[in-house]
Amino acid sequence: MYRTLVIPLMILMLASACSSDEQGLKDAFRDQMLIGTAINRIQVDGTDPLAKPFIARHFSSITPENAMKWERIHPEPGRYEFALADSMVAFARSNGMAVIGHVLVWHSQTPGWVFQDSPGNPLTRDALLERMRDHIHTVVGHYRGKVLGWDVVNEAVEEDGSMRRTKWLEIIGDDYIEKAFQYAHEADPDAELYYNDYNNEERAKRAGVIPIVKNLQEKGIRIDGVGIQGHWHLDSPDMEIIDESIGEYAALGMKVMITELEINVLPTPSWLYGAEISRTAEYRESLDPYVEGLPDSVETRLNQRYAELFGILLKHRDVVTRVTFWGVHDGYSWKNNWPMPGRTNYPLLFDRNYQPKPAYYAVIREAEKAR
Ligand code: G3I
Repeated sequence: MYRTLVIPLMILMLASACSSDEQGLKDAFRDQMLIGTAINRIQVDGTDPLAKPFIARHFSSITPENAMKWERIHPEPGRYEFALADSMVAFARSNGMAVIGHVLVWHSQTPGWVFQDSPGNPLTRDALLERMRDHIHTVVGHYRGKVLGWDVVNEAVEEDGSMRRTKWLEIIGDDYIEKAFQYAHEADPDAELYYNDYNNEERAKRAGVIPIVKNLQEKGIRIDGVGIQGHWHLDSPDMEIIDESIGEYAALGMKVMITELEINVLPTPSWLYGAEISRTAEYRESLDPYVEGLPDSVETRLNQRYAELFGILLKHRDVVTRVTFWGVHDGYSWKNNWPMPGRTNYPLLFDRNYQPKPAYYAVIREAEKAR
C-alpha cells in the first residue's frame, strides 16, 4: 500500500515543487503561444553567466538579434561565419526552445559587395539572383531542420505602402520577394517562412504588405506568416489598429507574430517612431529623463499598455503564434541606443538585474485570465 500510493505521491509533490521553482513567462503562455527573446553573443559566450539559465527559464523561443544578418554570417564573398549562430542554435535546442532565423533578405546590414561584381560594377539581375540563391541555400541549408521559421524578407515596404527602393528592388525588380521565398522553401521545405516589417500594423503600410502576401499565395509560393515587429511606444499605436491588423492578416490565412516587441517609455519625436535605423538623433539630456529610475506614473502606464496589448494578442491566440521581446532585459534593449545613443530606457518586462517588473506580472495576469 505504502509503496504503491505514498511513494509516487511524494515523487509527484517533489516534482511539482521543483518545476514551480522553474516556472517562467513562457509557462504562463504554454499551449497558447511561443514567448521569445532576441539574443546576442554576450548571453551565449559566458560573458554574462546569468543569461543562459534565465533565458531557458522564461522563453520558449530565441531569435539571434544580429548573428544571422548577412554582414555577420556572410561577411565576404564565399566566407560564411556560422560559429556564433551555431552556438545560439545549440543552446536553444538543448533547452527545448524554438529558433527563429533572422534575417535572409534585408536592405540593411547587407555589405556593399553583395550588389557588385569584383571590379565594383552593379550586378545584373541574374547575377544578383544567383547570389541571393547561394546565400539563402547556404544559410537555410546549414540550419535545415533546426530552425522553426525564417524572416525571409524584412522591411520591404515604405510607410505609404509603396515598395521600398532597395538595391534588391532596383536590380532584380518586384519579383525579388517571390524569389527569396522560393529559395528559402527549396533549402528547407519544412521551415515556416515569414514576411517581417515594422509599422505594418498601420493601415497605409498594411495596404502595401497585403498584396505581397496575396501575390505569393496566388503563385503557390509558401508563406506562413506575417511578423509585426512591435517597436512600440506608450502613446502609439492605437490598440484598435493592432487588433484590426492581426484580423486582416489572419483573414489571409497568415499566422501573425509580434517579432521584436518593446514599449519605449522615453520622450521621442514621432518622426523617429518605427525602426528606420538610418535615422538617428544626437543625445539630448532633456530626452533622457529617467536615468535615476522610472517614475511610478510612467511605470503604471507601461503596465497598462502591456496588459492591454496582451489582452488583444491573447484574444487572437488562435493566429498569434509567437511574441518575441527584442531583448532579454532593459539593459540589453537596442532602445538605449536608438534613435539617440546612451539613454536609459525601460521597455521590457525584466529590469537590469534580471528582476521581473510590474509589467511582467501584468502580462502574466492577462495570460491567466485567458486560460
Ligand atoms: O558588436 C559591435 C561592437 O563590437 C562594436 O564595438 C560596436 C560599435 O558600433 O558595434 C557593435 O555592433 C552593434 C550591434 O547592434 C550590437 O550592439 C552594431 O553597430 C549595431 O548596428 C547593431 O544594431 C542592431 C541593428 O538591428 C542593426 O543591425 C541592433 O542591435 C538590433 O536590435 C537591430 O535590430 C533590428 C532588426 O534586426 C530588424 N528590425 C529593426 C530592429 C531594430 O533596429
